[in-house]
Amino acid sequence: MPRRKVGIIGAGNVGATSAYYIAEKVIADIVMVDVVEGMPQVKALDFLHAGPMRGYDVSIQGTNDFSAIVDSDVVVITAGVARKPGMDRMDLLKVNAGIVKTAAKHIAQYAPNSTVIVVSNPLDVMCHVAYRTTGFAVRRVVGMAGILDSTRFRYFLADELHCALSDVHAMVLGGHGDQMVPLPRFATVAGIPITQLLDKAAIDRLVDRTRNGGAEIVAHLKTGSAYYAPAASVPEMVESIITDRKTLAPCAAYLRGEYGIENLFIGVPVLLGKNGVERIVELDLDESEKALLRDSAAAVKKGVADLDTFFDIR
Ligand code: NAI
Ligand code: 2OP
Repeated sequence: MPRRKVGIIGAGNVGATSAYYIAEKVIADIVMVDVVEGMPQVKALDFLHAGPMRGYDVSIQGTNDFSAIVDSDVVVITAGVARKPGMDRMDLLKVNAGIVKTAAKHIAQYAPNSTVIVVSNPLDVMCHVAYRTTGFAVRRVVGMAGILDSTRFRYFLADELHCALSDVHAMVLGGHGDQMVPLPRFATVAGIPITQLLDKAAIDRLVDRTRNGGAEIVAHLKTGSAYYAPAASVPEMVESIITDRKTLAPCAAYLRGEYGIENLFIGVPVLLGKNGVERIVELDLDESEKALLRDSAAAVKKGVADLDTFFDIR
């Protein structure tokens, strides 16, 4: 079987850390592309120096030349500006739409058979930019955010309950913004619903902390946003696509009527396999959960409408 290849556009904090985690999982050869001269090259070299100790044996290339992503199986877009304190993800819209559009044009040109994983914020809106610009089938454009938001929820639950992280499963749906939708009813510890382990006040507090998980990091970091947990979420998706593992995870996928939502990228449970988003799983949400998802979809729709005002991305 030919070696698999992953292109990463944007070799900043999330892009480079994703490359490192992908190398450690020995999933595929890696090409990182960035506009800053010399930076992706030197990061790739540094990673390669660590290979003998960290046990990876993949090819890692850093370059300023977008054509190097040629024939990638998966391309991850992390290029863009990250949040600073006081900035909403939507504040990033204008700057990042242009950057993601450029990246998507290169992907369509050099890796026309790839699956695109969008990471740049505002996530759900940037998925629209990538989808419209590449012209790829909807199943081959997918956004990373739900896995990150869910892992934060899982951590907060494990910390509260003083239990093993690996026993905690949880799901966060909706747009990757303040109106994301953590689902306590679908969160379990070793199969036990958390609603049997925690009272409502504690659950509400952890739901709130999950919604503010990104902002909490930005407030401390000041110079940018989170990257270790975001980057750890990327190989989960890359690996499932490349190995056709069919992981079920919340990702931003294009809805055409599912959950009563039309023509919108938003976080929902999907099966990820060699064809990208192979299935959208519709959970049996109760009325309050449906209302929260509707509100979150309205916020994403507003971002897409802003996009249509500022840019000609169709
Ligand atoms: P960063 O500033 O460390 O890296 C961004 C990189 O993009 C820089 O190296 C920059 O030179 C590069 N870049 C800018 N324009 C480019 C272009 N046209 N082509 C190629 N590269 C270009 O930022 P960081 O922390 O890596 O975050 C990247 C993006 O990911 C941000 O938009 C951030 O908000 C988003 N993000 C999304 C998350 C999610 O859950 N979806 C989680 C964390 C970050
Ligand atoms: C996060 O949630 C900034 O979206 C990024 O950490």
